[in-house]
Amino acid sequence: MTRFLRTLSALLIVAVVAASGAACRKESEALYADPLINVFTERARDEGLTREQTDGKRLFARYCATCHGDAGQGDGQNAYNLDPEPPDFSESLKLHQPSYWRRIIEGGSAAVGRSPQCPPWGRMLASSDLDALVGYLQVLTNPSAR
Ligand code: HEC
Repeated sequence: MTRFLRTLSALLIVAVVAASGAACRKESEALYADPLINVFTERARDEGLTREQTDGKRLFARYCATCHGDAGQGDGQNAYNLDPEPPDFSESLKLHQPSYWRRIIEGGSAAVGRSPQCPPWGRMLASSDLDALVGYLQVLTNPSAR
């Protein structure tokens, strides 16, 4: 009887270890299987962007392009719905310093006394994400910053 119990518990341990091993493998596969990130990374590498600028580009496509447009020209699908509409970055960004853009990204356009139409991202995104976005805006305004 004792022998039977010992064998049974040994089998159970083997089963639990095997199952948790399988679970770990699945999780790490999922982490590296985001095709969107792969596409972005490849394209950005082709364009000669740095790692930070690549991150910024990915974040911009996810959170900002809906209003600002893919290339920041103020032509996102939600732009018509806003008053004022998002400006064309290729013209507007050079009027201010990157520290001013960062204040807007972190606290929203209201944080610099403008409309509340550009939402604040400081509570949702990490500080390094905000830096990456500023890095990508620099690419949009000045292609030689690549
Ligand atoms: C809901 C729409 C919307 C989203 C989403 C949005 N913005 Fe804006 N953004 C605006 C509007 C509208 C303005 C102009 C606000 C004003 O002038 O009062 C603006 C202005 C700005 C400006 C100032 C530009 C300039 O040169 O004057 C920056 C920088 C900016 N947004 C960055 C971002 C970034 C980065 C993101 C994504 C993390 C983002 N915005 C997401 C609507 C949006």
